[in-house]
Amino acid sequence: MTFLESTFGLQGKTAVITGGAGTLCGAIGEAYIRAGGNVILWDIRAEALSARVGQLNEACGCCGRVDAVEVDLLNEPSIQEALTKSVTKFGRVDVLVNGAGGNRGKCALTDVKEEDFEFVLKLNLIAGCLLPTKHFARYWIENRIRGAVLNIASMAAFSPLSGVWAYSAAKAAVMNQTMAHAKELAPWGIRVNGIAPGFFVADQNRRLLLNEDGSLTQRGRDVIAHTPMQRFGDPNDLAAAAVFLAADGAAFVSGVTLPVDGAFLCHSI
Ligand SMILES: NC(=O)c1ccc[n+]([C@@H]2O[C@H](COP(=O)([O-])OP(=O)(O)OC[C@H]3O[C@@H](n4cnc5c(N)ncnc54)[C@H](O)[C@@H]3O)[C@@H](O)[C@H]2O)c1
Repeated sequence: MTFLESTFGLQGKTAVITGGAGTLCGAIGEAYIRAGGNVILWDIRAEALSARVGQLNEACGCCGRVDAVEVDLLNEPSIQEALTKSVTKFGRVDVLVNGAGGNRGKCALTDVKEEDFEFVLKLNLIAGCLLPTKHFARYWIENRIRGAVLNIASMAAFSPLSGVWAYSAAKAAVMNQTMAHAKELAPWGIRVNGIAPGFFVADQNRRLLLNEDGSLTQRGRDVIAHTPMQRFGDPNDLAAAAVFLAADGAAFVSGVTLPVDGAFLCHSI
C-alpha cells in the first residue's frame, strides 16, 4: 500500500452517508468510492436514492461497492433497522456521515411559526446528528470498532444567517455536539469531526439562492459578495476534506469542524 493509500485511502472501510440522495452527500459518496471505500446511502426519498446509486455506479464503475437503505431518521426504530441492514450488507460499518438536513424557507423573527422551527431543529440536530450517532456509537462500542463520524454543520454554526432561525440554532448545536461527542467517545477510539460548508446550490436552498431562470436572487448576490472566492462551492470541493476526516491519516483529529467555504468566514471589510 502506498503512503497516500494508507493515509488517505478508505480501502476496506464502509461508510453510511445519511442524506445520501442529496446533492452534497451524493458527492461525498462518490469521493469515498473513489478513495476505495464501500458506501451505503441512507435517505427518506426512495426514488432519489435509486437514482443516486445508479449515478454513482455509472461514475465510478464500482461494481457492487455502493448500496442504499431507505430510512426515516426522525424515527429511532427505522434507524436501528437501517443500521442492521447496512452491517449485513458489507459485514461492518466504519464511518458515519451525518448529512441529512435542510431548511424551510426564511422569514422575519416576528413571523416564526413554532411548528416550522421545531421541524427544522429536529431535522438538523436530532435526525441529522444525535440519533444516528447514538446508534452507531453503541454498535461500535459493542463491537470494538474504532469508528469515525463526520457531521455537516454550516456557516450558520459560527454566526447566525438572517431569517433561518431554527437552521442557525440547529447547526450551532451540531458544532457543539461534535465537540461533546468527540470527548465522550474518544476512550473507545471513536472520532467525531465536522465540515462546515460555505454555500453550495442544492435542492434545499436552490429557491433561496437562484431565480427560476438561474439568475441570482438578492440573497444569492449577498452570498457571493460575502465570499472572497466569489463563487458558490462545487459539491466536489467537499471531497478532499470529507475523505481526510474519515481516513486513518486523521487518527488523532477529533472534535474539529473544518470550514470549506471559499473564505466566507474570513470576510470583513
Ligand atoms: N447546500 C449548502 O449550501 C449547504 C451549506 C451548509 C450545510 N449544508 C448541509 O449539508 C447537508 C446536505 O445538504 P444538501 O445541501 O446536499 O441538501 P439536499 O436537500 O440535497 O440533501 C439533504 C437530504 O436529506 C434527506 N432527508 C431529509 N429528511 C430526512 C429524514 N427524515 N430521513 C432521512 N433523510 C432525510 C433529504 O431527502 C435529502 O436527500 C445538510 O445537512 C445541509 O444542511 C448545505
